[in-house]
Amino acid sequence: MSANQPIKNPSVAIVGATGAVGIELIGCLERRKFPLSKLRLFASPRSAGKTLAFRGSKIVVEALDENSFKGIDIALFSAGGETSRKFGPIAVKAGAVVVDNSSAFRMDKDVPLVIPEINGRRIAEHKGIIGNPNCAAITAIVPLWPIHRKNRIRRLILSTYQSASGAGAAAMEELRESTRAYLDDRPFENRALPHPYAFNLFSHNTKVDPETGYNDEETKVIRETKKIFEDPDIAVSATCVRVPVLRAHCVSVTFECEHPIAPADVRALLSDAPGVRIVDDWERNYFPMPKDASGQDDVLVGRIRRDLSDPGGHSISLFTAADQLLKGAALNAVQIAEQLVG
Ligand code: A2P
Repeated sequence: MSANQPIKNPSVAIVGATGAVGIELIGCLERRKFPLSKLRLFASPRSAGKTLAFRGSKIVVEALDENSFKGIDIALFSAGGETSRKFGPIAVKAGAVVVDNSSAFRMDKDVPLVIPEINGRRIAEHKGIIGNPNCAAITAIVPLWPIHRKNRIRRLILSTYQSASGAGAAAMEELRESTRAYLDDRPFENRALPHPYAFNLFSHNTKVDPETGYNDEETKVIRETKKIFEDPDIAVSATCVRVPVLRAHCVSVTFECEHPIAPADVRALLSDAPGVRIVDDWERNYFPMPKDASGQDDVLVGRIRRDLSDPGGHSISLFTAADQLLKGAALNAVQIAEQLVG
């Protein structure tokens, strides 16, 4: 099948359907009335036989294996990098287009890495796999794109406040349980995450590169921003931190443009930007919060102000929040799939 051909009435598979993102993928397909002929749900053998609701009926979850992709046109993967690396190519060989939420293929030259509001046109160039970007990168850069297009961002510094959902359903449960234990003064042994999570925060739970001192999450944000913006020369630095919030990420962003820029320019550029909502009430001190970002589709942006450390007037600071499970993962993947069906 040609990559440019719309896939009409596809048969769709979700790999990792029982996970935190998988459940939201099912919800997005239903809510957005995705035009599919059949939906099949896959997870590990532990979940085989469970049922999940879709459009008023119950679908039985199947254990994923090498034969799962026969007759599947679009496969939405969110079961971790190892599962994607093993089963992604098998799905492609069976004729499916894979939209992969893991980091397994994101930096491959032949894999478009897509945020539809930014580079949706790249979807048509796929060779079987399309990458769904890192959730912290999505939360930061959706609102930066309209600015970058008009007045190139040459330097970008990000600090993230990342929720439990990015580490999966087990981490969300660990946050709930450890918070209860902390309040009841009971001991709690953390399992999903490396440090106590209740009433604490810690540097992102990925490996630190001994050469650069950046952890894997930070490296992903840096590399993926350059790839998605198609601008290898943009200078990016990131500090990624896990905070005790259930499901929405926040990012503090400071950027420097080629030409002078004022907060009013940023507000004007973002006022009708797709996927972006300005929440910037200085009088009420009301700005993007995980509570407001959760369960909705937009990236919220506020605290739009001049970066006073740059007297030249080229730099702006702002703050963003987005639902990690929706725009940071499931929604973005379903938006990509919507373009595949034309
Ligand atoms: P299961 O629920 O059976 O373990 P999360 O990101 O919330 O941790 O979810 C991970 C998802 O990936 C779950 O649906 C999980 O299924 C699924 N998964 C994990 N390992 C595999 C595997 N080897 N094959 C298929 N699905 C897997």
